[in-house]
Amino acid sequence: MRGYLVAGNWKMNGSNAASAELVDGIIAGAPESELVELLVCPPFPYLSAVAERLRGSGVRLGAQNLSQHDSGAYTGEIAGSMLRDVGCEYVIVGHSERRALMRESSRIVAQKFQAALDCGLIPILCVGETLEQREAADTEGVIDEQLNAVLDLSGVEAFSNAVIAYEPVWAIGTGMTATPGQAQDVHRHIRASLEVIDASVAEGVKILYGGSVKGENAAGLFSNPDIDGGLIGGASLKSDDFLAIAEAAVAIC
Ligand code: 13P
Repeated sequence: MRGYLVAGNWKMNGSNAASAELVDGIIAGAPESELVELLVCPPFPYLSAVAERLRGSGVRLGAQNLSQHDSGAYTGEIAGSMLRDVGCEYVIVGHSERRALMRESSRIVAQKFQAALDCGLIPILCVGETLEQREAADTEGVIDEQLNAVLDLSGVEAFSNAVIAYEPVWAIGTGMTATPGQAQDVHRHIRASLEVIDASVAEGVKILYGGSVKGENAAGLFSNPDIDGGLIGGASLKSDDFLAIAEAAVAIC
């Protein structure tokens, strides 16, 4: 049993006070389950303070990005070792907002993925197609290109210490969730792509769905065989909304 991961990507939201309140609410209501792990990914400046509050709780800490470099003259960048140092266990790489707005290529995303592994972080690799690409029936082609960049650099074994998040760009922040069937089809495709190289790695890797997940649609998504949790944006900014999604995962286990 792979279990579920319910991860909150807070994006560029909040303040010191708001992140403390949010994380305290999550800790207070976190369901106790061996099979459902909760993760929060606050903005960089709040990581240390959130880490302090998380101490002793089962809720994990992650960051939203890292540099592909180890250290040195990269003004404004943040190394994976620094994230480990302040208590992160996970880091998101290749979010579509970074691919689109910061022009991160699949090659750079692959380098970041490897940099995360090198310092003991679990990368959450985001993949997903735009509406245009879906309408052109290119969903699988886009996912393959994004996934293959990482497979080429790091090999399939790397996915025994990694998570994948399928986030269709058209579903992010739009309220337009992929149907459970649409999501399951892509998740199956991703797992099958790994299966042909290494069946046991494919069986073990968690594949999260992201894109307008809420308490009301989480159960329908999570009850599919290849959907192992969610990467949540908007609904991760209120503890009650986030916890409702976590409860949906617990109810399925
Ligand atoms: P929303 O849940 O706000 O659609 O965002 C999803 C996302 O981008 C998580 O990384």
